[in-house]
Amino acid sequence: MASCERGRVGESLCAPAAAMGMVVPSALAVAVAVAMALALPSVALENGLARTPPMGWLAWERFRCNVDCRADPHNCISERLFFEMADRLAEDGWRELGYQYINIDDCWSAKQRDAMGRLVPDPERFPSGIKALADYVHAKGLKLGIYGDLGKYTCGGYPGTTLDYVKQDAQTFAEWGVDMLKLDGCYSSEEQQAKGYPEMARALNATGRPIVYSCSWPAYQGGLPPKVNYTILAENCNLWRNYDDIQDSWDSVLSILDWFFTNQDVLQPAAGPGHWNDPDMLIIGNFGLSYEQSRSQMALWTVMAAPLLMSTDLRSISPSAKEILQNRLMIQINQDPLGIQGRRIVKEKSHIEVFLRPLSQAASALVFFSRRTDMPFCYTTSLAKLHFPEDAVYEVQDVYSRKIISGLKAGDNFSVVINPSGVVMWHLRPTTLPVQPWHVVRQQAHSEGLHPVLL
Ligand code: GLA
Repeated sequence: MASCERGRVGESLCAPAAAMGMVVPSALAVAVAVAMALALPSVALENGLARTPPMGWLAWERFRCNVDCRADPHNCISERLFFEMADRLAEDGWRELGYQYINIDDCWSAKQRDAMGRLVPDPERFPSGIKALADYVHAKGLKLGIYGDLGKYTCGGYPGTTLDYVKQDAQTFAEWGVDMLKLDGCYSSEEQQAKGYPEMARALNATGRPIVYSCSWPAYQGGLPPKVNYTILAENCNLWRNYDDIQDSWDSVLSILDWFFTNQDVLQPAAGPGHWNDPDMLIIGNFGLSYEQSRSQMALWTVMAAPLLMSTDLRSISPSAKEILQNRLMIQINQDPLGIQGRRIVKEKSHIEVFLRPLSQAASALVFFSRRTDMPFCYTTSLAKLHFPEDAVYEVQDVYSRKIISGLKAGDNFSVVINPSGVVMWHLRPTTLPVQPWHVVRQQAHSEGLHPVLL
């Protein structure tokens, strides 16, 4: 555990948390959240896919719509990029950790459909065709994702999938051996989207090929009810982009975080096995994030039960970025089988925030996040103050430092030192029986097919 200078568990040198203006969820907020969760029907797109958040690599944030292969053959959107990235995923330890999908984004296709009306890849940049790429990827034990757009054009101006092409395009993707489809929403109306997204879900199912379905639908409707119906989304899509595109900057990461956690009462119950909120790609390994910020993105995406889709150059990634992305305990938490999305449970006046994700077997993950811009901050609290059951005892492991604290009692004060724009992340396992009531409630809710919420 990180602890303040000379501080130890139960013997903190910092000011008590109560003096820092801790905000915890009120009983009313909790009751409302429970009621909302119980009101949600348990129906979901039961295509058996994405039981845990999908993991892999997606071209867009890092490689965009760079189609100039003459000037930039190493980085342009071409089969070479995907062959090379597949090699890296298979050879550098990614695949074994669960990073399975290698996903093409926009700008892969020719500017026109062929004479039969089929989508075709750009012949110069993908001379072997998508089927050959899929075969190559599959031979490496990986899966291939592709990008389409429910509209006249893709966002990059390539041929889109208007309603009359939905079935044909689903069939084409299936014939090519595609394993995931990201269906964007540029150049389509609200009505076309309301019709087209469910239609594509049916068309994909009708192909008989298991294809994970990622919908950008809510992102085009503001991401919130009443325009967005999360029950309908979960019935149709395995994951969905709710909000703006991520860019290579900390500001962008923060704006995404703010939106997701400000709206957590709506978004958190919508996620679960087979249906996930997608706050967009991991930009770790690129240019916009410091080391601390990279660790924060990884921890916070994990607490959100977000898909882990890296968008970085795996051919030249730094050892430190790789270490963050390949943190085993982090991935285990992200992939927890219960699939409960975490929530922000504390927002301090000191600009420290605490997030909690409940995990299977009554374990949980805590993230202590600092929005401060001065210096490492010594934050003192106790598990009881974070609403853990009073009589419980925990074994804690720091997810990044791997240090273990045994015998942490809920009532013990402890301190963590959190760097500016950084996190401390803990994995907690109760060592006392019986399983505490707040976990039992969630797990019962889960086994009844309901969306459990954090109490
Ligand atoms: C939209 C999507 C991005 C990316 C681009 C491609 O902006 O949200 O993720 O797919 O289109 O043009």
